[in-house]
Amino acid sequence: MKDQLIIFDTTMRDGEQSPGAAMTRDDKVRVGKQLERLRVDVIEAGFAASSPGDFDAIRAVAATVKDSTVCSLARANDNDVKRAGEAIKGANSGRIHTFIATSPIHMQHKLRMQPEAVLEAAVRAVKLARQYTDDVEFSAEDAVRSDVDFLCRIFEAAIAAGARTINVPDTVGYSVPQLWGELFATLIGRIPNAGMAVWSTHCHNDLGMAVANSLAAVMAGARQVECTINGLGERAGNASLEEIVMAVKTRSDFFKCATRVDATQIVAASKLVSTITGYPVQPNKAVVGANAFAHESGIHQDGVLKHRETYEIMRASDVGWGANRLTLGKLSGRSAFKARLQELGIALASEEQLNAAFARFKELADKKREIFDEDIQALMSDETVTPEVERYKLISLTAHSETGEQPFARVVISEEGREARAEARGGGPVDATFKAIESIVASGTELMLYSVNNVTEGTDSQGEVTVRLEKAGRIVNGMGSDTDIVVASAKAYLNALNKMAAKSQRMNPQYGVEARAV
Ligand code: KIV
Ligand code: ZN
Repeated sequence: MKDQLIIFDTTMRDGEQSPGAAMTRDDKVRVGKQLERLRVDVIEAGFAASSPGDFDAIRAVAATVKDSTVCSLARANDNDVKRAGEAIKGANSGRIHTFIATSPIHMQHKLRMQPEAVLEAAVRAVKLARQYTDDVEFSAEDAVRSDVDFLCRIFEAAIAAGARTINVPDTVGYSVPQLWGELFATLIGRIPNAGMAVWSTHCHNDLGMAVANSLAAVMAGARQVECTINGLGERAGNASLEEIVMAVKTRSDFFKCATRVDATQIVAASKLVSTITGYPVQPNKAVVGANAFAHESGIHQDGVLKHRETYEIMRASDVGWGANRLTLGKLSGRSAFKARLQELGIALASEEQLNAAFARFKELADKKREIFDEDIQALMSDETVTPEVERYKLISLTAHSETGEQPFARVVISEEGREARAEARGGGPVDATFKAIESIVASGTELMLYSVNNVTEGTDSQGEVTVRLEKAGRIVNGMGSDTDIVVASAKAYLNALNKMAAKSQRMNPQYGVEARAV
């Protein structure tokens, strides 16, 4: 019998701390449902005390998800723990994850607290959390740079106070696999009541070692891994869920544990998170990158055709790649379209939404002969990823470029229901389009990122555009897709402006500043 490895997904909490990746309540419910289909054990749905919006989002996820534990983060203070406890009240299985920093640098400069006061706050928070649920997790933030003797004391006290999971974070991505494994071996070996808790690893990727460090901790006895879809997270991100899960599955000869994750849901989860957060997946990303199973070189293709295992250690279908399945065409009917959406795990709220999506599918089928699963997913992301506020909508766009001429664009948008039109010239048709939109909305935002990915292969592929805008420290990501990349760009720009128009602000649990927005 193999040990069970608990997969703790923090895409909606730590992942959401990436610039512009904040999710609305509806986004979180959609991601939560997909994580449940993926069969992760624990879903950290947010940080309840950060804003009323995040509190509501956690509550909605707790009410929806039945088969995974739903968790809220809380700093080690009474208010945070109470908010977390209230937010998870409706869950079938709810967890409070409370944390406090334990490294000298954090205690001295951030908390301005003595170690004894930190220990007391941790114990108090764990005890209070136990009044809401038996499932309490305690984390020592910046454990990687903490004194090991102090870590042993605080973890022992947290377990005695009722914590059933002890999480050891490499908050700044500083460790290396050997040292990280040794730290777990030391903690588990030295703490007298270590056996009463599940040991958990939480690694950041600043030196590109988050997955390797997490797996080293597993080898040393950790039985929970905290990770995110696509490795999303602040700075260089967190350990990537898909890499951890597939490493443990593919090398089950080496790792003496198993997960209950349904790996065939990985690609769907990756695409959903990418669409909702506006963080594209790099093509050569392990497991979920577009090239992860592509065999470009002739030698490889020949080998794979003769015997797949010559170059493949996993099957694309194992992780949910549809092998570019040709799904529907111009003549497909509404019920075939609806059935395919269901197979892809895409749920629509109403018949009107289905009708609108079907009309857009028909438009796409007129422009593009072959429609693949990826096309439907991109099409549906426009349909279902609606911002809290939809102030701006694209009505029409004309763009013109000709050698020797300055590109030109004319846009018609609706702004709170009123039509407005503008024309502009620019360095290229996309630049002209953005200038035309700006001449209407005068948003005062700064463009921080513009990127285009093709959804499938070929020049008739839909382009998926990501736009990142910044204004007064707030960052938002917008996405849009279309076979015409200028149209996709306009949609992405307006999507970002709509997100910027949403009012709510959230607090970052670690810095304590109002830095995130949804
Ligand atoms: O990286 C970290 O230390 C965290 C904690 C809040 C667990 O995310
Ligand atoms: Zn973290």
